[in-house]
Amino acid sequence: MRAGTPPNRPSDGETDSARAQRWDPARYARHGRFVADLAGPLVALLAPRPDDDILDLGCGDGALTAAIAPRCRRIVGVDASPEQVAAANALGLDARVVDGHALPFDTEFDAIVTNAALHWMKRPDDVIDGMWRALRPGGRIAGEMGGEGNVARISGALMDALRRRGIDGESRFPWYFPAPDAYRRRLAAGGFEVTEMALVQRPTTLPGDISGWLETFAEPFLGAVPARERPAMIAEVRDDLEPVLYREGTGWVADYVRLRFLAVKPPVAEG
Ligand code: BEZ
Repeated sequence: MRAGTPPNRPSDGETDSARAQRWDPARYARHGRFVADLAGPLVALLAPRPDDDILDLGCGDGALTAAIAPRCRRIVGVDASPEQVAAANALGLDARVVDGHALPFDTEFDAIVTNAALHWMKRPDDVIDGMWRALRPGGRIAGEMGGEGNVARISGALMDALRRRGIDGESRFPWYFPAPDAYRRRLAAGGFEVTEMALVQRPTTLPGDISGWLETFAEPFLGAVPARERPAMIAEVRDDLEPVLYREGTGWVADYVRLRFLAVKPPVAEG
């Protein structure tokens, strides 16, 4: 997916838009549909109830939102990408353009579900504060995001390709992939009781060539080189990764690591 535009702060005169991740719903549907398709364990953790009001944080094109909608009273999707929100609205969903760092909701929801979105939001404490405000007492977050080590091979190859061009890839790293203890501590500091937190190795078979994944998800790195050079950079990264991520008969398998968690906003104490 999807979700918050990375809050990168260019220091070399480059424009924000050269570093930003943009979302093209048609391309996303081709290369990113697996993200919602693999959300079964997250939805099981959420366990939607018929009287739940749910916020889908980082709803992207609404594929997961639409799958949950029949199982709850109300679901609202938010995403930072106007293009993805338009695609979600076209499915008939209540989806809104919202920066996940500044959620505008006040005790409106019984649950938040968030899939493959939080790692695009690089100020996690702001996001956690907003989730706290959005939930009713006793409300829960069921979340899945990239965790420590996620796409390490892929991002390593991208940064190597930039280094060979004299460009610092580290400073462009657009993702936040926390270790379980670190994220647990942040949630606890935000007032949540963390009831589940697991780092799950999930090698993920891609629907096509790795170049489709790179074009869809790695724009903050690719944007560092002029458009005419990007096909060569993609080919180079592909060559680097082929021995480790391509398997005859299976195809391309990305080195995904999921951080999956359930956290609860304590009910108001009685008495
Ligand atoms: C992920 O879901 O883990 C992911 C997606 C796109 C870029 C990086 C990570």
